[in-house]
Amino acid sequence: MLGRKVQKPRRQPGARGVILVGFMGAGKSSVGRALAEQLGWTFEDLDDRVERREGRKVPEIFRDSGEVGFRRAEHAALKELMRELQSAPKRIVALGGGAFVQKENARLVAAGRVPTIFLDAGVEELWRRCRQQARREGIERPLRGSLERFGELYEARRRHYLKASFRQETGGKSVAEIVTEVIEALGLEQRRGDRRREQRGEKW
Ligand code: S3P
Repeated sequence: MLGRKVQKPRRQPGARGVILVGFMGAGKSSVGRALAEQLGWTFEDLDDRVERREGRKVPEIFRDSGEVGFRRAEHAALKELMRELQSAPKRIVALGGGAFVQKENARLVAAGRVPTIFLDAGVEELWRRCRQQARREGIERPLRGSLERFGELYEARRRHYLKASFRQETGGKSVAEIVTEVIEALGLEQRRGDRRREQRGEKW
């Protein structure tokens, strides 16, 4: 597999926010929510903002306006969010799987000077998680396609994700384990009392 080098995390105890990037099924929303909970920060999913602004669900945007229309809406939502982050920090943000891949979005994120974390896993595991979410929660992803197409898209995007501040492996780990590793890597301060709270070790 291409470039499986481990990037060395840089500790950023004073970070104003954290942005999670990675492919579909990487756990950006689940990890983001749990991370925000541990830190006492707020969590935001960029796709939710896109849907609010558009008054339509993501699959509807893809269906009615195509991927081009979705990317336009996504960029506008990210611009708004990055502006807010300047005055209302302490936010964990999960980007949709294609957002960080777009050059103009990567530029916006870099200008915001907040650490970015690439949540990664093997492609079979990412596929399995997406399929499970579709079955259990009815989450449909317009770009999931076949396993073959899914794998190709992942490989094509991976070099972009690797531009994040660091890569966090999520394969075979529980959400709680990932959260602990991210907090340690960035040297962030946990909400008082949470450090000793017993964490549940549930898998995906
Ligand atoms: C997309 C991933 C989705 C969503 C949209 C496009 C992509 O988000 O933004 O369907 O291009 O990979 P998740 O990564 O949360 O599934």
